[in-house]
Amino acid sequence: QKLDIELAAIEKSGYDHFMLKEIFEQPQTIFDSLRGRLDAKSGTLTLGGIREHAAILSQAKRIIIVACGTSWHAGLVAEYMIEELCRVPVEVEYASEFRYRNPVVGEGDVIIAVSQSGETADTLVAIESAKQKGAIILGVCNVVGSSIARLSHAGAYTHAGPEIGVASTKAFTAQLAVLCMIGLKVAQEKGTITQQRFQHLLDELDAISEKVATTLKLNDQVKQIADKYKDARDFLYLGRGYNFPVALEGALKLKEISYIHAEGYPAAEMKHGPIALVDENLPVVFVATRDSYYEKVVSNIQEIKARKGKVIAVVTEGDQTIPGMADDVIEVPAADELIAPILSVIPLQLLAYHIGVLKGFDVDKPRNLAKSVTVE
Ligand code: G6P
Repeated sequence: QKLDIELAAIEKSGYDHFMLKEIFEQPQTIFDSLRGRLDAKSGTLTLGGIREHAAILSQAKRIIIVACGTSWHAGLVAEYMIEELCRVPVEVEYASEFRYRNPVVGEGDVIIAVSQSGETADTLVAIESAKQKGAIILGVCNVVGSSIARLSHAGAYTHAGPEIGVASTKAFTAQLAVLCMIGLKVAQEKGTITQQRFQHLLDELDAISEKVATTLKLNDQVKQIADKYKDARDFLYLGRGYNFPVALEGALKLKEISYIHAEGYPAAEMKHGPIALVDENLPVVFVATRDSYYEKVVSNIQEIKARKGKVIAVVTEGDQTIPGMADDVIEVPAADELIAPILSVIPLQLLAYHIGVLKGFDVDKPRNLAKSVTVE
């Protein structure tokens, strides 16, 4: 047993938990996702796994993204990215709902299955039946040679390396990087993106690993914020546009790791219900980086403050407005709104981690959860 404990310590490379180690690995894992694919200098993007199917992808009448859990959140970000870049309708489905409802799917449809493990039973069965009906399946998996990867016609691995912590962190940001590259590739093929925008996004992706490293320097600050709010009974997470799925993911991380009830919502929807919960005891986490939704989010923050909610805001470095309104502010580097979620999710991963640790929970193995759900 002593040997087991020592081995585990070595595997964690000095970190207290796999979750923290994996959060801190993200500059490298994102770099690994991009490596050999993205060459910003020469302005090229190569995705070997989808090359043969690029034409089919670009002719798709619609794209359906099928996934569960955190991977479903990555799929939601991809919906915003791909619709914007490729001008094709994208639907994002929970695999468990999609598979049981006799969905309308067939030739001409492209399904992107997003799965860290590549073994999630609902996702696997969902794509099996869609494949039988003639859809083209594209797998975005982390585990090489996994069932979903093998069943797919084409795909792109995320290359995040083994993820041990049950709550997904580095796999999520790698999924975002890969899904963005797929969007860019299809957009280029379809001609729905200008050369200038294409190059700009390649440059932004090229710079993201370093910005992730900068974001991780917020760890101590986030820990202090965690200490301040760790006894809250509920949390609300709000964001709009590309940051709406980040709000969902932040809430999921908190639920999984610290067993605090948390809800993620599109910020504008809060007035249709969740605003009724707001009082001086409710921490509200806003994902409010500078993007095309920014002004609207600022109004939403005012609405929460008017009801005495506590606002924790993730903003872009140098923001002049929100720090004057929020109770706590976390500043992340500026990035194009398409890839800003890769940065804005990091403080939320850290917040969930620190609250879980401060409450004394086993953050690597949260109760009732499995890393890979291979049953229905
Ligand atoms: C489980 C894990 C989550 C994961 C989800 C989907 O619930 O605990 O972290 O997001 O399954 O898993 P997949 O391997 O398909 O991405």
